[in-house]
Amino acid sequence: MSRSTRYDTGRAPILVASTMTGARVSMEKIVNLAKRRGFVFPSAEIYGGFGGFWDWGPLGVLLKNNIKNEWWKTFVQQRDDVVGIDGSIITNPKVWEASGHIDNFFDKLVECKKCHRRYKIDVLKSGKWVTAEGEDLEDQSCKNCGANDWTEPKSFNTMFRTYIGPVEDTASKAFLRPETAQNIFANYELVRDTMRLKLPFGIAQIGKAFRNEITPGHFVFRSREFEQMEIEYFVVPGTDDKWFEKWVTACEQWFFSLGLNKKNLRLRKQSKEELAHYAKATTDIEYAFPIEKGWAELTGISNRQDFDLQQHGEFSRKDKSAFATAVDDEGKVKKVPFVIEPSFGVDRTALAFLLDAYEEQPDRLVLKLHPKLAPYTVAVFPLLANKPQLVEKARTVYKLLQRRFMTAWDDRGNVGKRYYSQDEIGTPWCVTVDFDTLEGAKRPKGTVTVRDRDSMVQEDIAIEELTDYLRAKLT
Ligand code: GAP
Repeated sequence: MSRSTRYDTGRAPILVASTMTGARVSMEKIVNLAKRRGFVFPSAEIYGGFGGFWDWGPLGVLLKNNIKNEWWKTFVQQRDDVVGIDGSIITNPKVWEASGHIDNFFDKLVECKKCHRRYKIDVLKSGKWVTAEGEDLEDQSCKNCGANDWTEPKSFNTMFRTYIGPVEDTASKAFLRPETAQNIFANYELVRDTMRLKLPFGIAQIGKAFRNEITPGHFVFRSREFEQMEIEYFVVPGTDDKWFEKWVTACEQWFFSLGLNKKNLRLRKQSKEELAHYAKATTDIEYAFPIEKGWAELTGISNRQDFDLQQHGEFSRKDKSAFATAVDDEGKVKKVPFVIEPSFGVDRTALAFLLDAYEEQPDRLVLKLHPKLAPYTVAVFPLLANKPQLVEKARTVYKLLQRRFMTAWDDRGNVGKRYYSQDEIGTPWCVTVDFDTLEGAKRPKGTVTVRDRDSMVQEDIAIEELTDYLRAKLT
């Protein structure tokens, strides 16, 4: 495998994800594949793109939908203690006052006076400057031009602002939500009461979030518009440490259950200095992304204590303990519940799965996505596109499978090229309709060949058994 430079800086290649040759894949290759095969495009590319915004193409939207469906199945459908909501992206600005986002959701920005490159910096207690990418700016020289002449650090609220109605004044100012979590806290009482929930219980939400990031980058790793999958899990105070550990394990297991390589995932407890103002503890599930920093946050699990409910109690009712309804099984404890929050980014998760699945073999490129995540579950080919009987039979098989699975149709070129094309997008199974399907000679009539993406082994399967065969493989 030839090594190539990262897509955005041209520095030494940063590689991740195994290939057959033992080398690792660069972000550039994933960006190229994603564009070439319709996973992700720069937003409005015809106008030169738009920094920090991406459009998910036909295959990308299938991958993301599969990720969201699997997440929802695991954490909502298959649990008795979690329900879902779909809150509005723009909501009453008081929500953001109460949550602390108006006062605290700031990034610090410095700009090199010579080349005008901007850095988002995290100033840790040690006083060091560290960029969002983990670059150490301790010696205070610009990584881009080497100069050492900076603007004063400026604070910058990363919430996007807008105005409701025709008049743009303070009273009409509103925000695009920077996290999905706050819809859940603001609806806590209504959800609890309408669904008659008793602690411990969780509320889940999947949806868009927006942050005016100073330095978006590394493809969809950090963008200005992205999707989150979050759960706020409400527990009786005192049981929070136990639930925190349970959720860390459950989140990690979810990635493993969908085939993410254990070697590329690790848990990292945040230090006291790093913790958000509301958090008692946070563990990041980190992935070995091909970026300077290497290991970087994929998902975070936080113990948010009773911070959010206390705040919303005070801001909505002028009563800090308005939500003091946490009761144990005997109905005794009267406290505001604590909250454990598993927070996933859909786009970052999709990127990790793409990186992890990418494998270059001597004569093919294969995306070894878990079958439940692959954009298409199965592809159907007529052996020859110029034989009407083959095409007609293959269309019947295609229509049959389409009822149950995302199914691709391909009648271009020869079968070898079609396999190559489906391997590149991760389609786990390819079905070929040939002359034996019609006439039966070497195989029984009415059978097709099913070729497995990973083993490349072909099996003969009767058409009427195909649906059950694929369903069994999927589960
Ligand atoms: N409610 C807590 C919260 O939002 P966060 O660590 O800021 O916590 C959670 O975000 C997850 O959302 C991250 O682990 C990441 O997967 C995703 N995320 C955050 N900012 C992002 C961005 N700018 N672009 C893409 N994904 C992002």
